[in-house]
Amino acid sequence: MQREFLNKTECAALAAHWESLAAAQQELVSTLVACGQIHLFAGWDPPGTHDEDKASFLAALAKIDGSYPGGLAGYIANARRLLAEAKAGKNPFEGFVPEQPDTVDLTSFNDAFERYEALGAGKFDKVGIVLVAGGLGERLGYNGIKLDIAVEVLESTTYLKHYADNLLAMQARSASGRPVPFVIMVSQDTGPKTIESLEANDYFGLDREQVHVLRQELVPAIADNDGTLALEGKYELVLKPHGHGDIHMLLHTSGVAGKLHAEGIEYLMFIQDTNGPNFNTMPAAIGVSVEHGYDFNSLAINRVPGEAVGGLARLVGNGREMTINVEYNQLDPLLRATVSPEGDVANEHGFSMFPGNCNTLVVRMDTYVRILRQSQGIIAEFVNPKYADGTKSAFKKPTRLETMMQDLPKLFGPEEKVGVTIFERSWSFSPNKNNVADAAAKVAAGGPADAGATAENDFYAAGRARLRVAGMRVEEAEEVKILGVPFTLGPKAILRPSFALTLAEGRAKVSGGSISGEATLIVEGRDIRLEGVELSGSSALVVKACDGAKVVVRGAFRNAGFELVRLTDAERAAGSGVPEYLKIRGYRFENRGAAVYEFDQPGEYTVEE
Ligand code: UTP
Repeated sequence: MQREFLNKTECAALAAHWESLAAAQQELVSTLVACGQIHLFAGWDPPGTHDEDKASFLAALAKIDGSYPGGLAGYIANARRLLAEAKAGKNPFEGFVPEQPDTVDLTSFNDAFERYEALGAGKFDKVGIVLVAGGLGERLGYNGIKLDIAVEVLESTTYLKHYADNLLAMQARSASGRPVPFVIMVSQDTGPKTIESLEANDYFGLDREQVHVLRQELVPAIADNDGTLALEGKYELVLKPHGHGDIHMLLHTSGVAGKLHAEGIEYLMFIQDTNGPNFNTMPAAIGVSVEHGYDFNSLAINRVPGEAVGGLARLVGNGREMTINVEYNQLDPLLRATVSPEGDVANEHGFSMFPGNCNTLVVRMDTYVRILRQSQGIIAEFVNPKYADGTKSAFKKPTRLETMMQDLPKLFGPEEKVGVTIFERSWSFSPNKNNVADAAAKVAAGGPADAGATAENDFYAAGRARLRVAGMRVEEAEEVKILGVPFTLGPKAILRPSFALTLAEGRAKVSGGSISGEATLIVEGRDIRLEGVELSGSSALVVKACDGAKVVVRGAFRNAGFELVRLTDAERAAGSGVPEYLKIRGYRFENRGAAVYEFDQPGEYTVEE
């Protein structure tokens, strides 16, 4: 049997090692050889040379074989099929015509918005949050994990803390108080630092048991149309990220999706690592899913034509219809071939024809676990090889299979309902993806910056919006450019999740008052009321109250507040000692005398100026 196999492989290097391989290794090697991968072993040095490298190479192969449903043989088969389709130039949307999806427009804070929020708030103990945080963040080029970047630099709250604070606020408001499950997908690049951050901060007040860290593995790169796995030297596979669609596979294979479903979780909300406004939309988005019976609810913005976010469309044709994200590079050709000969151009409102995908998703759990069972969680893999020339017979560099989490509805049938909820941009989508130089170039070209400063700007804009809804008079300061990226000087308003998760809550806790263009207001704590608070000039007021501390704040506050100070070139240079999260935005704030009131003991307090 062995002899037969070795004869068939005609591989002397392998024959020389065969006896020393464990049975499981022999099986894996046989499978790979049968899949046309003999090159992986053909260059092996004689036994006794580089044996450790060979062992770790085999261990790496075994690990990947175990982590991908269908193993390496499945991966290679999928690669061959997808590469053949890519070579044939198969248009994934052939025969489909895009139509408007089923949408709910929540771009204004009207009665419907608040009704959806109330409905969503009633489900806080039936929702789990899934954060995909395995990405490399190459465009941002930050020397650390993106979750550790501060979303605002008045108090330097990191994204991870901000998200955890929202979970704590959700559970504090639910009748059962049940911990909100928090699934975090990491990769080998982001995993260790994510754990470090959680550990160093005592899980930001969350229970360890409610946090599920799932690690996505890299997949092997593929060197050619035959699915040949790429090697670096003799004993190392070239590995690449498989994309955020891995979250579905991991939620399935880890059993976490099934467990949460069994525990009564009805919805999962999928969020990205540096989209600070994720939770602004959460209550209303859940409410929309509940009321409209959506199995899959894609949160969206009005898209600027040509913007680097996908368009959400209902594709009709080939005897079926599906509401799906069409990636931005595929949208223009699809539109040209069908409904818009001019391509991705503005409609009468100045927006692209189809809403833009924020990649914040609300998925109904019943449907989700059923689809995961059927698909093993492998969601619509695709391949995007860069060919060396028009014959498409060779690649410029190895490619790999990828998957995107928003492609889940590709597995839906006619009975699953997919909808799109459109929110105002700064309220819902303000990722920190681009380094400051690229961001400035994007702004100069008329597009959104999606950078550190704009993410912070929109963080304060959300606070301003909540204050306006609550009836406070909010003056808006001018917009300046810092390193070519726009920033509105204020007012800088942070209403922490502990203070208000919905507009109604803000309205119940803030009455009257005014805040001027460059003033600052930070409020943290469940039981704080602002009654006619006036902040003029650049004054700043910070009020924080622990659980059980009931605080009423009244009056006019006058002080020098927080001053925005631009970083000098020297401060922005390498080795200056200035934290990188400041360098990526080009400014910091200095406290020139903010009024700060902190109450860390239960009791009743009044602050009056
Ligand atoms: P991005 O599109 O921002 O990609 O990912 P990225 O890899 O983080 O950044 P660039 O493209 O290198 O600049 C969107 C979300 O998906 C996650 C990211 O962490 C982010 O939250 N992601 C991306 C994963 O979790 N895994 C992946 O393999 C890729």
